[in-house]
Amino acid sequence: SGPELAALVAGGAVDVLDFPKPGIVFKDLMPFFGDGPRFRQVVDGIVTHYGAGSFDVVAGVEARGFLIAAAIAYATGVGVVPVRKAGKLPRPGFSASYALEYGEATLEVSEDAFVAGQRVLVVDDVLATGGTAAATMDLVERAGGVLTGFTVLMELGFLNGRERLSPRKVHALLTV
Ligand code: PRP
Repeated sequence: SGPELAALVAGGAVDVLDFPKPGIVFKDLMPFFGDGPRFRQVVDGIVTHYGAGSFDVVAGVEARGFLIAAAIAYATGVGVVPVRKAGKLPRPGFSASYALEYGEATLEVSEDAFVAGQRVLVVDDVLATGGTAAATMDLVERAGGVLTGFTVLMELGFLNGRERLSPRKVHALLTV
């Protein structure tokens, strides 16, 4: 259930003060990823939420989004597409820059990452300001994908990322 999944995420999250900069409270989900039953139940919960067969490929945002995306892709038998930080792609790609909660960043996806019309589920670990998510969804659509949904393990509600992404829907397992 929703509250059970939220508790599984909450139980694997550790607040780290002043990382990566003073004043930032970093949500470290590595204990969550390191706990097999916890990780599996949450991945299964995301698949159940959308329904296997409702997406053709899963896109994960570097770096922690890769972990979730690969697990969902494997569980449902679809492929996985990495949305990468700047300068990592070996071949031409689309690029989108955005402001982070701390600093600025650029994301890139390969030009041929998606087949036109492919239904894409986008996943990441944390939704903060929504800059990463907005850039990722922009990239998916520019590359020819059709957005099925956007899921995060944890949403920082006070940063209003969800409003920034409206009218696109955000599915968060836990909102803090
Ligand atoms: C974190 C997190 C999201 C993003 C959310 O990634 O994993 O991708 O920030 O922030 P936003 O909603 O304000 O854009 P980070 O930049 O720390 O990259 P990493 O996963 O490679 O460490």
